[in-house]
Amino acid sequence: MVTSAPQPADPLLAFTAVTKSFGPVRALAGVDFELREGEVHALLGENGAGKSTLIKVATGAHAPDRGSIRINGRNHAALTPAAARALGIACIYQQPALFPDLTVAENLALRLEPAATWRRVDWRRRHARAAELLQRVGARIAPDAEVRDLAMPEQQLVEIAAALGAGARIVIMDEPTAALTQREQERLFALVRALRAEGAGIVYISHRLDEIFALADRVTVLRDGASVGTRAVRDVDEATLIQLMVGRTLGPLYPPRGLSAGAPALELRGVGCAASGVRDVNLTVHAGEILGLAGLVGAGRTELARILFGLTPADAGVIISQGRPVRIASPAGALAEGIAYVPEDRRRHGVVPELPVAQNLTLAAHRRIFPRGWLRAAAERTVADRVIARLGIKTAGPEAAVATLSGGNQQKVAVGRWLETRPRVLILDEPTQGVDIGAKVELHRLIRDLANGGLAVILISSDLPEVIGLSDRIAVMRGGTVRAVLPGGTPAPAVMAAALGVDGGGTA
Ligand SMILES: Nc1ncnc2c1ncn2[C@@H]1O[C@H](COP(=O)(O)OP(=O)(O)OP(=O)(O)O)[C@@H](O)[C@H]1O
Ligand SMILES: [Mg+2]
Repeated sequence: MVTSAPQPADPLLAFTAVTKSFGPVRALAGVDFELREGEVHALLGENGAGKSTLIKVATGAHAPDRGSIRINGRNHAALTPAAARALGIACIYQQPALFPDLTVAENLALRLEPAATWRRVDWRRRHARAAELLQRVGARIAPDAEVRDLAMPEQQLVEIAAALGAGARIVIMDEPTAALTQREQERLFALVRALRAEGAGIVYISHRLDEIFALADRVTVLRDGASVGTRAVRDVDEATLIQLMVGRTLGPLYPPRGLSAGAPALELRGVGCAASGVRDVNLTVHAGEILGLAGLVGAGRTELARILFGLTPADAGVIISQGRPVRIASPAGALAEGIAYVPEDRRRHGVVPELPVAQNLTLAAHRRIFPRGWLRAAAERTVADRVIARLGIKTAGPEAAVATLSGGNQQKVAVGRWLETRPRVLILDEPTQGVDIGAKVELHRLIRDLANGGLAVILISSDLPEVIGLSDRIAVMRGGTVRAVLPGGTPAPAVMAAALGVDGGGTA
């Protein structure tokens, strides 16, 4: 029985010995993977292990070089995007792939109606269908809202609504929670569980092990493009997964805290910005310390970072830099004060995807690396090699375009390029988002080393254990201002309480 009628025991999806290369890069080197009805199957692996590539084979975006794809008991040599959709495969990416100029209802119609009927428009029905699907995913979004006006998590819900509407039985999620708040994440988990209860199979990619333990039934680990094991989640612990993933045990996740902080590097007195909703922030960050900013999304953390980097300049209060009041009116002004900022949205501000890795790593530091003003390829190469080695950036070479790197490795480039500017104050907004656990440990160590060398670090991360584990002090923001400053290592419930404004929350 090779490709005969589907058997009840057949998995929804089965990959056997699937391979895929991009030129000299072997992204998939023989992957076995199976997804059953009614399971959440996590896919885990280091940055560049091949997770996204495997997913793109399943959605028909990439044709495999070799191997077999079996869906609902039938073999397929390769899939096209249309064939994959017709087979009930839907994928929710971290960055939703909707048309920004169209409305939500139009986007859903494009996904759900065959192209031939697209022109025979029944607007009322289309609108009602969109409203019904949005309600099923618990989204309070108007069907005639334009997608460009929706926040990222709302766009993600539209994607999930489209998957529901298409009756998808195989739902793939590639790092869906990277940019979600706690509440949005819980809503997403509830949706995933509901899909599972209806018999769908869900492939779930995440670098956050706690999510995998909370949500998944089984987990398959990829390493260097090959599957190294599939386990029932209830039979494994974190250490086992890490061992499978990186092939060794890791040291402690967080380096020891700094011994003592130095002089104030930046002092904020009553700082505010009406346009971004930040008000009356009193805060000091010292040379040699890591100051974590905790708070819910919307609490004002990124807004405060943008004030300090001159993107939305302060219109109230005083900022004191190296003992004197300064006005930071632009990023150039911030850089002149020695303030650097690694933004959270690497795709928009972090890297230039078309340019080589080496150039991306040296862009921000041109003046220091090339003091005479001309580009010295050798100097660029030396710096690039050093950062690539230090951060373990997986790339075909320094000349490879950043666009060809895996998501997590692009993130490492985004962080790495600022390290070379040797700033006095470094603001990191979600520096380890999408970064695998081994590289996370490496980044944590690096950030601590920089602080030990006298740098003042302001760390924004929605990964609460990271803020708690890495910071010397934690400033908790809520409603656009700092509500409490807690010592590093404060237990998570206390930090959450301050962030939510329950139990008093302490004072600044
Ligand atoms: N279009 C492409 N051209 C060249 N190389 C590619 C391309 N897409 C992926 N690769 C390479 O294939 C390998 C696997 O990448 P993939 O994106 O699948 O990793 P991943 O497991 O999803 O990693 P991450 O956790 O960082 O998202 C990487 O070495 C990557 O650089
Ligand atoms: Mg990926």
